[in-house]
Amino acid sequence: MTSPDRQLKTPVFCALDTPDLSRATGLAAKVADAIGGLKLGLEFFTAQGPKGVKQIQKASDLPIFLDLKFNDIPNTVAGAVRAVAPLGAYMLTVHTNGGRAMMEAAVKAASEAAYEVVKARPLIVGVTVLTSFDNDDLAEIGVESKVVDQVRRMAELAKLSGLDGVVCSPREVAMLRSDLGDGFKLVTPGVRPEWASKDDQKRIMSPLEAVSAGADYLVVGRPITGAKDPASAAARIAAELAPIESSADDL
Ligand code: C5P
Repeated sequence: MTSPDRQLKTPVFCALDTPDLSRATGLAAKVADAIGGLKLGLEFFTAQGPKGVKQIQKASDLPIFLDLKFNDIPNTVAGAVRAVAPLGAYMLTVHTNGGRAMMEAAVKAASEAAYEVVKARPLIVGVTVLTSFDNDDLAEIGVESKVVDQVRRMAELAKLSGLDGVVCSPREVAMLRSDLGDGFKLVTPGVRPEWASKDDQKRIMSPLEAVSAGADYLVVGRPITGAKDPASAAARIAAELAPIESSADDL
């Protein structure tokens, strides 16, 4: 079974990083017209669970990127993937350091569960090295490689294990695109339009730069959710990406 073929309006997933259901549904409804999908992570899911995800789907009718970063033994991760399958998420995350057997189990469970419950299985993408890690943090947990080498290694393992793509920083997009070829999905947070505050993100790129470097999906949170007018911030980002969208249509 293949992954979702639902066409996104734009490659932007807006991150709703809040445990609060009414804030999340309010934001979702406001920005729905100008984004491709919504990203819900551990903060929201831990507080609101599958019911909360359904409320967001109802408020926006947008594809959901469920960023739950699964990492456990293969059997447990497979069970977790089956448990969220009925939500019909567009994309799910696992940690690549869960290893090959765990990643393979996640993909297999997604395909089987999706076959029973919804038509298309979610894309499964892997977190390579958390961007909060530097070389010293890696050494401390016994990984002698530099961050960049470990990212390449884990992205390659993700591909070998059947994942659809990885999450990476904008800085790594061009390298991974050239290593892993077209078709392997690259999802990047750390995206900031020129006019937005950097917040705590250090290795940033503008949305247009990230897509030009080879990113398939962009995760944008605070530049939209923290704006005075989230709907117009989202529309501004969509307009900045319009040249790329229309040249892709011409192909
Ligand atoms: O608000 P901002 O645009 O910085 O939000 C980015 C989103 O991407 C947040 O949900 C954050 O958890 C997530 N993320 C990140 N860096 C990573 C992985 C995920 O910022 N390496």
